[in-house]
Amino acid sequence: MQVTVVAGALERLSADVLAIALVELDPAKWKMPARLAALDAALGGRVADAIASGDFTGKRGESLTLHAPRSAEAKRVLLLGAGADAKLEPATLRELTAAAVRETAARKGARVAVAAPSSRRIKPPAAFQALAEGAVLGSYRFDAYLASRKDKKPAPDVQLVVERAADKRAANAAAAIGVVLAECQNLARALSNEPPNKLPPAELAKEAQKVAKQVGLSASVWGKAELEKRGFGAMLAVAQGSVNEPRLIVLEHGAPPKGAKQGARKRPTVCVIGKGVCFDSGGLSLKPSTSMEKMKHDMSGGAAVIGALRAAALLKLPLHVVGLIGAVENMPSGTAYRPDDIVTTLSGQTIAIANTDAEGRLVLADVLHHARTTYEPAALIDLATLTGACSVALGTWSAAVLGNDQRLIDRVLAAGSTTGERYWQLPLWDVHKEHMRGQIADVKQTGGRDGGTITAAAMLWHFVGETPWAHLDIAPVADTEKTSALQPYGATGFGVRSIVELLRGWK
Ligand code: BES
Ligand code: MN
Ligand code: ZN
Repeated sequence: MQVTVVAGALERLSADVLAIALVELDPAKWKMPARLAALDAALGGRVADAIASGDFTGKRGESLTLHAPRSAEAKRVLLLGAGADAKLEPATLRELTAAAVRETAARKGARVAVAAPSSRRIKPPAAFQALAEGAVLGSYRFDAYLASRKDKKPAPDVQLVVERAADKRAANAAAAIGVVLAECQNLARALSNEPPNKLPPAELAKEAQKVAKQVGLSASVWGKAELEKRGFGAMLAVAQGSVNEPRLIVLEHGAPPKGAKQGARKRPTVCVIGKGVCFDSGGLSLKPSTSMEKMKHDMSGGAAVIGALRAAALLKLPLHVVGLIGAVENMPSGTAYRPDDIVTTLSGQTIAIANTDAEGRLVLADVLHHARTTYEPAALIDLATLTGACSVALGTWSAAVLGNDQRLIDRVLAAGSTTGERYWQLPLWDVHKEHMRGQIADVKQTGGRDGGTITAAAMLWHFVGETPWAHLDIAPVADTEKTSALQPYGATGFGVRSIVELLRGWK
């Protein structure tokens, strides 16, 4: 699919579907805007009729397909409701283009033009970025394993219509950014949707290397032997039950010349760490089967990191960004780690294992320590499907953010409100950190039934030192059963856009 920005009169656009989005209106008072008048005339007054009859009122999510006469340039006109003008937000615009793309694909069309409602609330650049994001997100399908995929056409090309020709350049640049962001989110979705028999740690690493080569990231991958040599004791403990060996995947964008000290570096370094549990069976503390299903998505944090690094490269962010993914499989077997085992982490601190299903924090403990000590970053940000407790606390509407640095947390919250990815802060206090000190080993693995998301974060806190750190628990939002034009069943790619937004605004 291609996304382009065009200027020009609506009645002269040729397309399989011409989508016109309108804000909510009162049929009694509505007047035909000048922009629509000629199109309506070309359609024999069908737009005016649809509105006067009350068949179309512009409510958010509403849609009405009108067939155009053969003399018209567009084959169909799709009226889309954008909802109340006062509530118009980028999320609405994303929904509109996604709906237009889905409708066009359903009609087997190859080309759709989209005219968004003009609004003072969203300036053209932000609007066109959102429109482009919606088009690309709406075109995503996970159909690689369907025999019927061969009959499917590629997603339609999308033309975004600017009202004033003078806005075209800025709209084009903004749309190009939107395309990159949404493609990278789709990449994260695709990786997370891959089944675990097709994407064990070694294959995830290969995919990351493939992406790196395409966009000019540097990539390095460590296998089991290297991790043993370096002392990644916690991550290796998780991995030891599986025949599929672990990988530490590192993707790097904008690295300073070798030998440059932190203080002398022109660009700050930010490390983004992802939990990459390619399948989480629970290990010997085996999950019940209903909880085990969908645990292929337990590498969604890692997938988001790969997506974000791809975007950092394509957008040429003026920043040193290091993406690190601890990729493992958590399986029960004769070689699996056990409850009561004591493991020595890379940091030297020991952990007594209580529950082999609390594996993500063990992987992250080593990867966070490695990131902090190797890159001396200005900030550490981790994304992880870490706790079921997060969904109990927040439902599936938002991710949780916790950390040791309120400024960094505020950046995450701000990036989330810009991108429409919801984060809610949970507390992380010294009492929580104290709670995770161990009796027979240095750090407790788990903190009991209550406040599970907080205690998991408090455990990680023991491994980040004084470095500003934000932990994003994305367990509630990494995958979904609620589908929409923007979001099919399965992986969401949550986190990619907000991480990139945060990095774009880094100062
Ligand atoms: N990957 C799970 C968390 C999870 C659960 C993600 C449901 C998405 C949906 C994690 O490894 C896990 O099993 N956590 C345990 C921790 C407990 C043993 C302390 C949990 O949440 O039950
Ligand atoms: Mn688990
Ligand atoms: Zn897990």
